[in-house]
Amino acid sequence: MCGIVGIVGKAAREAVLNGLSKLEYRGYDSAGIYLNDLQGNEYLTKAVGRIQNLKDKMKPTEQGTVGIGHTRWATHGKPTVDNAHPQFDETRRFYLVHNGVIENYQEIKNEYLSGVDFESATDTEVIVQLISKIAREEKTDALMALKKALQLIRGSYALLLVDNTQPDHIYIAKNKSPLMLGLGAGFNVIASDALSVLDQTQTFIDLQDQEVGDITPNDYRLETITGSRVEHREHVLTIDPNAASKGTYEFYMLKEISEQPSVLRHLDQFYLDDKGEPQIDKAILTALAQADRLYIFAAGTSYHAGLVGQALLEHLTDLPTEVGLASEAGYHFPMMSKHPFFIFLSQSGETADSRVVLQEALKRKIPCLTLTNVPNSTLAREADYTMSLEAGPEIAVASTKAYTAQVALEAILAKALGEQLGKQKARDFSLRTNLALAAEGIEEVISDQKRLEQLAQKYLIPSRNAFYIGRGIDYPLALEAALKLKEVSYIQTEGFAAAELKHGTISLIEQGTPVIALINDPVTSDLMRGNIQEVVARGASVITIASKELAKPNDDLVLPQLDYYLRPLVSVVVSQLLAYFASKDKGLDVDKPRNLAKSVTVE
Ligand code: F6R
Repeated sequence: MCGIVGIVGKAAREAVLNGLSKLEYRGYDSAGIYLNDLQGNEYLTKAVGRIQNLKDKMKPTEQGTVGIGHTRWATHGKPTVDNAHPQFDETRRFYLVHNGVIENYQEIKNEYLSGVDFESATDTEVIVQLISKIAREEKTDALMALKKALQLIRGSYALLLVDNTQPDHIYIAKNKSPLMLGLGAGFNVIASDALSVLDQTQTFIDLQDQEVGDITPNDYRLETITGSRVEHREHVLTIDPNAASKGTYEFYMLKEISEQPSVLRHLDQFYLDDKGEPQIDKAILTALAQADRLYIFAAGTSYHAGLVGQALLEHLTDLPTEVGLASEAGYHFPMMSKHPFFIFLSQSGETADSRVVLQEALKRKIPCLTLTNVPNSTLAREADYTMSLEAGPEIAVASTKAYTAQVALEAILAKALGEQLGKQKARDFSLRTNLALAAEGIEEVISDQKRLEQLAQKYLIPSRNAFYIGRGIDYPLALEAALKLKEVSYIQTEGFAAAELKHGTISLIEQGTPVIALINDPVTSDLMRGNIQEVVARGASVITIASKELAKPNDDLVLPQLDYYLRPLVSVVVSQLLAYFASKDKGLDVDKPRNLAKSVTVE
């Protein structure tokens, strides 16, 4: 959510713009860049919309060896040029880019900045005006002014600051929002996401909360905001920079959908031994085995993966498992059992809502495990234990391969824990076979994508609204399928427990309303057929997607048979492709749906 990049000691324009382009998926309603050439020239350019608009606005002469840039997902203030970052103070000495939310910005404005003329409606401008005021009135340098300002500020921030009286420094600070320092030879980079600067360096230092830094081309110094010196270990990121490229695909979303079979095969290789037995850190299993109840917390698509995980864990371990929306649980903590164990699911590992729950759990000494696609992320670092989703960088805003990786990893965890607890059904659960079947099943679905495109064109694109319905494991699947369709195609879609429709919502079914029925649950499949008839009778256009063993001759799509609990792995791909084509064929930007951002680092 918002992306920031800075570089000092090297041609900054290209480096910052390239970095911002790679971060654009984090927020894309406006962007800006500040450059200083250390010869007395500075350039500030801001534009509404995509990075391309910013590039188009810049003159070739605008160059520098120090630069900071920002791509924005608006929180305070509309997406306008004035509200885009970098923000600056009224003397135009300081330039600042910021990711996060300043909770007490209004108080600061009233208490310390009453005479100041604000140009923007952002909370960010408050920080830069405050720094400027402190520097002026207390005659301190930029770093001291920054530290003093941060001691007054409450909220989340990853920020970069340039003082044009000392332009060969970038001052940085972090609290709750991710920020890393990348080390180069004769230059240093700073970014909210290492992926954006992997072409510059692979050696990084992760800042911790409430830390600041003074970064120059050949040196850096890190401190807490109260002035104690800190040192952190460098680490080398071995991600292939090309893993984050689109290759020959028109959109990242289709590339990432297509990668799902290899993600499942890779998870098999990564977590299962020669005999197909899960190999999981003993400490994790020991801690899990002591729990009397498991709690999964997540948001959005990850929450939907958590609902499937709940079914898997309860089935294979007999441990009661609850799933909570992180955004709700953070401030309304659920009632706990005696020995709870928390599992966090997060593609990015940076979701602020999940972090609130994690912090509260750590305070209460509840053991916490994070399953994430970004092993060095905040939720990974702060939890007691972490496991990697191994899905490779996910760039499209709509999550696809991270969902399948989460469900697969939950299955691996459930089997390992079930076996640890001596459950025969966990021993009998053939993970290797099922992961292989799921990978093949996904390949079949992908090879049938033309047909899915036709279905999307015929039923979804002409419609304002749609439904996914299912029972049993198909209910959480319907929730995820509906989220995918609505977020990328803007067709209002509800995921529904099929039998619940008749308790009210069926009044929305009209002639031609698309209803996509998921039929994977053997226990309720006959009842499900009845539920389908109920909507057919009211004019719905129904698409049926059934597992082979439950299929009828007229079903629109028949999916290969695999273990009941893992059926979402294949069915979800049908919904991903329907969503993809509904969006693409409407001419929308599939990878960057309006109003959204990847990695939501505000609460
Ligand atoms: C939807 C989507 C979001 C995320 C949610 C949580 O396609 O991607 O709903 O799943 O914002 O993000 P993570 O998993 O990064 O915590």
